[in-house]
Amino acid sequence: MKNFIRHQALLFFVIVFSLLAFACEDKYFAKPPLPKAPVETSTLEASFVSSAPMTLTDAYWKSADYLRVPVADLNKNALYSDGFLNMTNTFAGLSSFNKGNDPKVVMKAAYDNNKLYIYAEWIDSDINPSFAASMLLGPPDPLPTKSDSTGGWTAQGNSDKFAMAFDASGNATSSAGTFIDKGCAASCHNNQMRPASGLVDIWSWDLSNSDALGYAKDMVTDATSGLINDGGVGMTESNFKVLSNPRSGPAYEWDGTDQSVIRPDGKTLLIDPAYYILNKTPYLGDPTKGKKVYTHAAYGCAHCHGEDGGGTGPSGEATAFAAIGFARKYSRAGIKSFAANDLHTGVTYWAQVPAGSVDDLIAYIKGLGSIPGTYLHAPSGSCADVWSVSNVAKARINTVNPHTLYQVVFVRTLSNGNGDDIQFTSPEGKSYPFGIALMNGDSKNHIGSLKQILTFKPKQP
Ligand code: HEC
Repeated sequence: MKNFIRHQALLFFVIVFSLLAFACEDKYFAKPPLPKAPVETSTLEASFVSSAPMTLTDAYWKSADYLRVPVADLNKNALYSDGFLNMTNTFAGLSSFNKGNDPKVVMKAAYDNNKLYIYAEWIDSDINPSFAASMLLGPPDPLPTKSDSTGGWTAQGNSDKFAMAFDASGNATSSAGTFIDKGCAASCHNNQMRPASGLVDIWSWDLSNSDALGYAKDMVTDATSGLINDGGVGMTESNFKVLSNPRSGPAYEWDGTDQSVIRPDGKTLLIDPAYYILNKTPYLGDPTKGKKVYTHAAYGCAHCHGEDGGGTGPSGEATAFAAIGFARKYSRAGIKSFAANDLHTGVTYWAQVPAGSVDDLIAYIKGLGSIPGTYLHAPSGSCADVWSVSNVAKARINTVNPHTLYQVVFVRTLSNGNGDDIQFTSPEGKSYPFGIALMNGDSKNHIGSLKQILTFKPKQP
């Protein structure tokens, strides 16, 4: 019996000790907490952060709660005037965006004491980086209602975009209702982005016209002016020789030097001369005269490079001039020096081109390819308020490999004092209605969501 009691006592101590040991382990050797699992929310919830999530890879975006945004047709069947071709890839609305599949828009947000950060991702099955590029013999537009001739210059292609609209005045309205009730339907009036009263702030991320510089375009619309850029110096200019005439050809071309951009986040990157003109020089020569040189019976480049610049001529095969790869690689000076090099199969042809016709010839060769329809410069003032970071590699835009997911972070100072912007002043606990619009190679037709809510969560949950 004594033995039994001793045995029981021993067992008791063993149990107590091991419990204590486990307790200690729990207390002193605790595993780090599991990262917070993202939760779907019904509004776009901005959490307060202590470090700015300025990159797409920031840990915050991995664990942040998210809003799925359903999309609907917002505007369709709109066309451009004569000479603008293949610029309405969202013509049929939902059925022409992402091959008719749901783009699965997901948004996340954060704020700190100075800035608001909004993350957006969506699926778009193709990448459209051109905007109104000048082309000779450009492709026709497949839309049956768009039968413009492609004989001379046309402006070709349109870029992908993602836009957000906010009620800057707090009382924007249209015949559709108020922004607070109807979201950005309140900025749509007589089929224009123009409220009947009040002020609507538009942030438009544009692959061609803003993202390369590290921004979304900051725009504003009211009843009087309609949609215009915010004050300050904008980031793009039309590159048509005669402004707003898509059949007038380019004013400028890339000058052949590396195009290095210092973005507002301080990072430097190179941008692709096939799609962006930053370092520019006037486009010289007369392509109509140049065509005669190009197709000359004795020394024409068409013998090998092809009548249409496609790379196949009666005397052989050569590089296609009507190709984005050629536009990316060769400036005017580059064409001259390669063509004259002994390594060039066509060097004896080049040698016969009259010196006074060289710029006309190159004007034609460049026109067979594509020359960006806008050129870029650094913005300043109120129109430079919205920064962007995206997952598109701008040094060399890849249009060949299947493109799927776009990811963009928008960054804006909460309260910047500009009269043409929405102010998020002491936003903690407040909510703001907004709308989104997505454009696949278009700027007239869009799909999107009229009304969502951005909520600034309390700083201390
Ligand atoms: C007899 C055929 C022939 C003719 C004519 C010809 N080329 Fe070429 N060219 C070629 C071939 C082949 C290449 C590819 C590189 C090589 O093997 O020379 C080429 C390449 C080029 C390139 C460089 C493209 C690259 O791939 O890097 C330029 C620029 C060029 N040619 C300009 C001209 C111009 C301008 C003319 C008209 C004056 C002309 N060529 C006439 C055959 C020709």
